Formats: sequence, structure tokens, C-alpha cells
Amino acid sequence: MSRLIVVSNRVNPPSGAGEESVGGLAMALAAALRAYSGLWFGWSGKVAKTFTGELTTRTVDGVTSAVVDLDAADYEEYYNGYANKTLWPLFHYRADLTAYDRAYGEGYQRVNARFAETLAPLIQPDDLIWVHDYHLIPMARELRRLGVKNRIGFFLHVPWPAHQVFTTLPGHRKLVEAMFDYDLVGFQTQEYQNAFEEYVVTEAGGELTGAGRLRGFGRTLRTGAFPIGLDAAEFGRMLKSAKARQMRNLMTACTVFRHLIVGVDRLDYSKGLEERFVGFEAFLAGNPDMRRQVLMLQIAPVSRESVEAYQEIRGRLDALSGRINGEYADVDWNPFRYVNKNYRRDELGGIYGAARVGLVTPLRDGMNLVAKEFVAAQNPQDPGVLILSRFAGAARQMPEALLVNPNSPEEIADALKRALTMEQPERIRRWEALFDTVQREDVTAWRDAFVAELSGSEDRVTALAS
Ligand code: F6P
Repeated sequence: MSRLIVVSNRVNPPSGAGEESVGGLAMALAAALRAYSGLWFGWSGKVAKTFTGELTTRTVDGVTSAVVDLDAADYEEYYNGYANKTLWPLFHYRADLTAYDRAYGEGYQRVNARFAETLAPLIQPDDLIWVHDYHLIPMARELRRLGVKNRIGFFLHVPWPAHQVFTTLPGHRKLVEAMFDYDLVGFQTQEYQNAFEEYVVTEAGGELTGAGRLRGFGRTLRTGAFPIGLDAAEFGRMLKSAKARQMRNLMTACTVFRHLIVGVDRLDYSKGLEERFVGFEAFLAGNPDMRRQVLMLQIAPVSRESVEAYQEIRGRLDALSGRINGEYADVDWNPFRYVNKNYRRDELGGIYGAARVGLVTPLRDGMNLVAKEFVAAQNPQDPGVLILSRFAGAARQMPEALLVNPNSPEEIADALKRALTMEQPERIRRWEALFDTVQREDVTAWRDAFVAELSGSEDRVTALAS
């Protein structure tokens, strides 16, 4: 079996003890790597005075990682800049928040080149290389420049936007052209794959040549949809842990005679938190008889704090949560708990297990693994109801959830009422179908499908010659 080299911006080898919190990418990659002898390469998360390319390696829970520090300009231009102020908002349809700054683009290219130069000496001839997410789109191009001939695959964890949105990016063509140095490019859903192919066909005179092959820029690559899943077996074990049990008991005790509604998201404008808060407020306003029967808990650990848009949304959410409690709380009761703390995954599992409703309403989301974790954590005899945004990639696999338009607080309020009054047989029926999908289409299935496709892709030389 070939060695697998995974490359991602964040490298977060799990301890295996359930300590990780929100953010499924790291968990999924660790699970993918455990089965292969391989290497996980990327940024250390640290900023040094100068870039030295010096590697720090360690092995945790069977996963070996090799990480490198960035310098201050890299951090500002590549991570805060092009990744988080340009590509992230654009790919989540927030052209209004997208910064178009040449220095960011240069920093992005520079870090991709630096990563490639640091990684190239570690690559052996049979290695499969799997690059992840929007931070590292030009990585294959940089590796090829250094003479790397291995098979290289790319997986995009976030949405690929519609043609009209993507073309607002200066240099869009160069970015896509660089993707043709991969052998395989994978997306979370068919919809994102289609959007990418449409771009190549209309903007670059590309052509679909059958069997998932796309021709463009004088080259051919394979594309595919590979919906990422949970490490369901590992999460199942976590749910049985003492930490998970304690948290479930705690939440059950503080919601006696009340139903818990839960949301868990990184504090990010793509997650639809403002609309969700207003949706809950509309539910309280429209259902006076049900007010005292519910407690909504929103966990939202702060994220990317050096980017202004994140500071601004934090302020707005503070104000909204205060407004809701100010309007509806009583001396002995309050309807809303808004918490910016980070929780361990096993604790989150306990919280999901105590909840009657999981409220997962991003405005756009590549997949959303919280939706899957909520389902995995339910009691089969008395499961809670998942309310899910139709704009999360997960909605394609989870039609038995109550699907809503996350832009509409009224729809969210209606779905809350429906979920809270849903009879047990219907809750069980819906949950069984969802649970089956979560177990079957798990992270192992995702990894195996991608790696099989990448290993099976024709030799690069043949592909280039075709
Ligand atoms: O899942 C999308 C993603 O951007 C990952 O690539 C990233 O690790 C995660 O969200 C958290 O964001 P950040 O690494 O910027 O804290």
C-alpha cells in the first residue's frame, strides 16, 4: 500500500481522548491517516520572526505530523488575508465581505511555494499526496514545479460557488488553472462539483469527456463528489465516556420540564447565527404558551479574531442575545444561553444527547459535521429532531431532517414549533433514516472512496498525453 501524505493548513493531531472541539476537518483527517502509515504536513499554528522551513515532527495516536512555522507577513497575507478575507467569504457567497488585495494573493502564492519546498524532500516515489481545502489550492502546481510526479489529489471542504460569484475574484482563472496540476479534485456535493465544471466549460473552453474526466487548460483531471462523514465508530465510543455521561446528566438536570434546543458552531458569519437568534426570538414571540417549555443553548467559540468581520459579528450577537433575554427572561427563568467557550467533543456529545432539537442553520456550509454528530448522539427510543439548513452540504444526505431556509427567521420559528410538537413515532422514523446514513457514509467511506479514486487515476504522464 502506498504511503499517504495529507497536507492541510491546520494540523491538529487528536489525542484520542475526546479533547478536540468544534471543527470536523482535523478529526476527519486524523481518522483518514490512522489507517495508512503516512504523514500529515502543514502549519504549526505559530508565527516566527522569519520563515526557516524547519520542521517539527511528532507522532500522536498513530498519526505522524510535520509542521512548519509561518512568518508575520505570511500570517497576515496568506492566513488572515487571502484565505480568511478573500476565499472564505467568497466561497460562502459573501462577496460583500470579500477583500481583493494583491498583497494577499502574493502572500498566498508565497506560502504555497514555501510549503511545497519544505514538503518536497520528504516525498517518496510511491506516496499518494492528498491536499486539503481552500488555503492550498496552488499546492500541486508548486510541487510539480519542483519535479514531483506523484499522484496528487485535492479535496475542497467548503462550497465551490456559482460561476457568477466565483468570477468576481480577480485572478480566478489562474487559481483554477493551477487545479489542473492535480490528478483528482473532490467536492463535498454534486452541486459544488457541477459549479466547478461549469466554470471550466464556460470560462476556459473546457469539456467533460466522460467518466468524471474534465479537460481544460490543455490537461485532463478527474472530478468527483465525496461527502465527508463522521468518524462514527470513534464518536460512538466517545458518547459512552464518563465525560459525555456527566454532561448529558448535567444538561438533563438543568432542563427538567423543559426541552433543550442546541446549536454548536464556530463563531462565523457563514453559520447564520444572527438569523437563528432572531428565529428563536420569533418562536418565543409567536408561541407564548410554549415559552417556559424551552431553553436554547448556543455554543459559539470565537474564531479568527484578528479579522474585523469576526469582531463585528461577535458584537452583534452579544447584543441580540442580550435583547432576547431582556425581553423574555423572568426572575426564575431565562430562555437563552449563549456561550463563547470551547467544549471537548465528548462533552458536546453529552449535550447533543440531552437535546430535543439540534438547530444547524448555516447560510452556506461545505458539509457541517455538527448535524451528523447531533444525530449520532440521540437516544434511539426518544430521539431529538434535527433542523438543518438547505444550504449545508449535509442537507443532500439528510433529507429526513426538517430542512429550512436559514435566511428566514419565520421558517426557523415554524420548524422549531414543528420539532417541539413532533410525536415520538415520527421522530423515531426520521432519526432511524438519518442515523443509518451517518453510520454508513462515515469518514472511512469518504477516505476510501477518495483514495481509491486517486490511486486508480491513470498515470499522470498518460493523462497529460491524452
Ligand atoms: O472547515 C473549514 C475550515 O476552514 C478548516 O479548513 C479549518 O481548519 C476550520 O475551518 C477552522 O478554521 P481555522 O483553521 O481558520 O481556525
